[in-house]
Amino acid sequence: MIADSPTPRGAEPGQPLDVATHRGAVEISPGVHWIGALDPGLRTFDIILRTANGTTYNAYLVRGSRGVAIVDTVKAEFADEFFKRLESVASYGEIRAIVLNHLEPDHTGALPELMRRAPRARLYISTRATSMLKALLKPKEDDRPLAYDTVGTGDSVSLGDCTLRFLHTPFLHWPDTQCTYLVEQGVLFSGDVFGCHYCDSRLYNDRVGDFRFSFDYYYAHIMRPFKGHVMDALKLIEPLRLNMIAPTHGPILRDRPRRYVNHYRELSTSSLAERIGNEERSLIIFYMSAYGSTARMAEAIRAGAEEQSGVRVSLYDLEGGETEPFVDLIEEADALAFGSPTINGDAVKPVWDLLSSLAVVNLKGKLGAAFGSYGWSGEAVRMIEDRMRGLKMRLPVAGLRIKLIPTEEELDACRDFGRRLSAALIGGEQGRVIDFAELG
Ligand code: FEO
Repeated sequence: MIADSPTPRGAEPGQPLDVATHRGAVEISPGVHWIGALDPGLRTFDIILRTANGTTYNAYLVRGSRGVAIVDTVKAEFADEFFKRLESVASYGEIRAIVLNHLEPDHTGALPELMRRAPRARLYISTRATSMLKALLKPKEDDRPLAYDTVGTGDSVSLGDCTLRFLHTPFLHWPDTQCTYLVEQGVLFSGDVFGCHYCDSRLYNDRVGDFRFSFDYYYAHIMRPFKGHVMDALKLIEPLRLNMIAPTHGPILRDRPRRYVNHYRELSTSSLAERIGNEERSLIIFYMSAYGSTARMAEAIRAGAEEQSGVRVSLYDLEGGETEPFVDLIEEADALAFGSPTINGDAVKPVWDLLSSLAVVNLKGKLGAAFGSYGWSGEAVRMIEDRMRGLKMRLPVAGLRIKLIPTEEELDACRDFGRRLSAALIGGEQGRVIDFAELG
């Protein structure tokens, strides 16, 4: 654990650090400076994330005996602040390397100007970032060729007495993402990983306010859809000696950084599987019903599905639920069925609300099915199926539509629908299409 904040250049020794008023670089570890920017006024990030007290765009400068490296830049609007901090500790002629852990514009907005000012620098990007770099810079035919190298796990760049080693960590949060480890000092420049949208000019995790909510919220929206990739990244990160984690957003994690690594593992580990046992498969049926017909279908589907041993079936009326806990359930389920009546040619809003909330979880390969009662047109079932296909779910049983009130024969068909869905879940035969609307 690092005992206290190093004194930033320009700050009085012993004075509390506040980068809202200190415009220079901040030395966070010997030879390593924070040269980022504060954005306290931001209230929405990437359209989907709320940012109650803004964010930071963290960028870093590493000084070695044979030159300087810049690790990430800032959003374009904050380039002046970034360059002022950089210029307070280095000249552009000293910069030999520009490492881009992630090419999203919040970290590459100052890149074109930095490349112009530091022509001796070479870019280091992950192998999957090449097309993004070209799309970002849009070089013209008569421009000089881009000076960049692609790097992967284990590759490194030497700055003389210090070494930057790369870890390939794709999809955290884009396919291009990587982390960069300063070997000699145990500092991990982690990109978006371990970041959060939390703007506090006191900079360090042991100095800022309580940012636990922001940390978990950020994980839930940025990392959660890629839990498998998080686990792969943790395999690379956990063996490292970690004195500090320096992410691109939010507090620098100098106090017990490994807590955050452990927390990522907890957040990425399925808890439902531990509670009900890995041997059971989980099917969840969600429905809304206008006159009780879709509800009766849901109950019959549940009855049929429950006949299959090894499948735990849950039934939820969306009228009595909240989206967020349902998303948690859905993430850990093996199969989902959605039931909706058709009203004005559409599925009903609570169904869409839930379906539109599922971008934060990975549903690829889960089984899906749709059903519903309708009055005259019955589009809802196929619309729900289209959405599930868009979420990369597999639909082993064709949607089941029933006109108005289900008869006993039709309820038998619902039970059969449930049986077939359960059978598909445990690897049995896939269902045939039953559509009473088409039967007339
Ligand atoms: Fe902070 Fe994915 O950019």
